[in-house]
Amino acid sequence: MSDRVSLSIAGNFLQPPSHLGLVLLSARELEKMRAVGQLAANLLKHLEPLVQPGVSTQELNDEAELWTQAHGAISAQLGYAPSGHPPFPRSICTSVNEVVCHGIPNRKQILKNGDIINIDVTPVLDGYHGDTSKTLLVGNPSASARKLVEVTQECMMRGIAEIKPGARVGDIGAAIQEYAEANGFSVVRDMVGHGVGREFHTEPQIPHYGQRGRGLKLRSGMVFTVEPMLNEGSCDLKFMPDRWTVITKDKKLSAQFEHTIAVTDSGVEILTLA
Ligand code: MF3
Ligand code: CO
Ligand code: CO
Repeated sequence: MSDRVSLSIAGNFLQPPSHLGLVLLSARELEKMRAVGQLAANLLKHLEPLVQPGVSTQELNDEAELWTQAHGAISAQLGYAPSGHPPFPRSICTSVNEVVCHGIPNRKQILKNGDIINIDVTPVLDGYHGDTSKTLLVGNPSASARKLVEVTQECMMRGIAEIKPGARVGDIGAAIQEYAEANGFSVVRDMVGHGVGREFHTEPQIPHYGQRGRGLKLRSGMVFTVEPMLNEGSCDLKFMPDRWTVITKDKKLSAQFEHTIAVTDSGVEILTLA
């Protein structure tokens, strides 16, 4: 686990201070996570129809910021500055085509027909974080781009389907990796899902690859994200000079979906399901 901590970069896992240990949420806290999870899902739903050829990623950001404020929440992403990163300068992440994650909205970046874009939102409501993302199609992307997006979403759902008390973190990763690789895609290894609640990023780390029966045993009350990133080509990544934007080394496409989930006595609850 420790070498993964040092490998895991940003966003998906941002070098947590060691005091941010694994947290089990009480029923009262779970209620707050449900509320912010619904808010996050509704924010994504609100942004979805705006994703059209000709819109800039900055316009998506600005609408997200207004909507978030109007709903009494704030963006966890705006100004977020884990060690090694400058403060994130926008309220959402917009990751287009070869951008794997943490793309920064920008007035000059205009969506065009055939692009794919991941929008990742994390509102904070009453002190709790709801973290969710989806990859959307701009106009009519190629059949291979659409397949990447569909398989990535299915991978996320297959990973989530493994979750119940007594299952292991490796079961989630194995389910994702098996389906991704069977479809000819690679799974990003350097970014992982994460515990979420009062903190944005905490234990446990949730790799999107792995072996069944390995890793931490899941317990009721754990809340974490499942957020696989799949690449058309190799899983190798590159950081841009802005120290946030992560792209594929081979510049081929990458897609991602993310839900925040709770482990319950009976299995799993998806908190960010619209
Ligand atoms: N929401 C991302 C995640 O899934 C983290 C984004 S951090 C930011 O963990 F600063 F880039 F916004
Ligand atoms: Co996340
Ligand atoms: Co996210």
